[in-house]
Amino acid sequence: MATIHDVAKLAGVSTSTVSRVLSRSRSVQPESARKVLAAAEELGYRYNAVARALRTHRSNTIGMLVPQISNPFFPALVEAVERRLQAESLELFLCDSQRDVEVEARRLRALVERQVDGIIISPYDFTASAPAVADLVGRIPIIQVDRRVEGSLTDWVGVDDAAGFAQVVDHLVATGRRRLAFVSSQLTNYSAHARLSAITTTLDDHGLSLAQPPLLGSFEVAWGLDAAERIDLTRVDAVVCGNDAIALGMLRGLRRAGVSVPGDVAVTGFDDISFAAISDPPLTTVSQRWDVMAGECVRLLLEPAGRGAARRVAVTPTLQVRESTPDRPDTTPEER
Ligand code: RIB
Repeated sequence: MATIHDVAKLAGVSTSTVSRVLSRSRSVQPESARKVLAAAEELGYRYNAVARALRTHRSNTIGMLVPQISNPFFPALVEAVERRLQAESLELFLCDSQRDVEVEARRLRALVERQVDGIIISPYDFTASAPAVADLVGRIPIIQVDRRVEGSLTDWVGVDDAAGFAQVVDHLVATGRRRLAFVSSQLTNYSAHARLSAITTTLDDHGLSLAQPPLLGSFEVAWGLDAAERIDLTRVDAVVCGNDAIALGMLRGLRRAGVSVPGDVAVTGFDDISFAAISDPPLTTVSQRWDVMAGECVRLLLEPAGRGAARRVAVTPTLQVRESTPDRPDTTPEER
């Protein structure tokens, strides 16, 4: 079996040049790179990233752990992070904790055993995920993205939920809606906590409160469908959902009940996943700027804070207004 020395000899360069070319760890003269790749091809040499990781204690690979890859929010975030890592010649090793804190802890251990150089995690549970995250602090560069566990264990980058819901409520109030319902996830994860407090505070700023108690289930389409039957249409003129998956279920559920959106009830989401623009009607939602979040996340991961306090970057989202909310005040509250 060919060795790195054989490749270096055939290409007429040093073994460290061969290693730099094949690990893409540092730039090399294009001509040398071409010769190394040709020699490796000719000799059938396969570069061993793990061996190099053991030798250099760097795998040039970052581990990423998300709570639920089937939720379209997370693949969009993962893609943005991978693009950002590639720009740093770093690979991504993606894992899904399947909404289970034991699986999550096991995945974290597996990533460390595979010598990743750092970890990006969106923790599944606000409290139960904390021990596994705490266990890695100081042992490996680790950052939380989108969600976080309670306390300030690590740096965090995510959406500014308060700014997002302020934009939603301002828009609904500006279009004549005053009687808002809130449908979101149970308070098991950071986003659910942040969004319930954000909607409550924003309504209070407008001298309003929820028209019925919040409906808290999960960030799933199925919960949106189910919750649609629990909307009190005599008291509600707009349904604010904690994420787009819920809102898409809500739209389907209201249509099934013969309720016109936005005529009878306006509906809003959060995330701006790709399906939001093609739902019927297209969904007004809060666009999470994945590229900005990914850029900040990788920047902070590669610039550890050392002994400094954990850094928090809340990215301001933008409101995507579409047909699920009225485009102008259609009626005054009194007329409704
Ligand atoms: O869609 C799921 C939600 O959970 C997203 O809004 C994201 O912020 C995540 O935390």
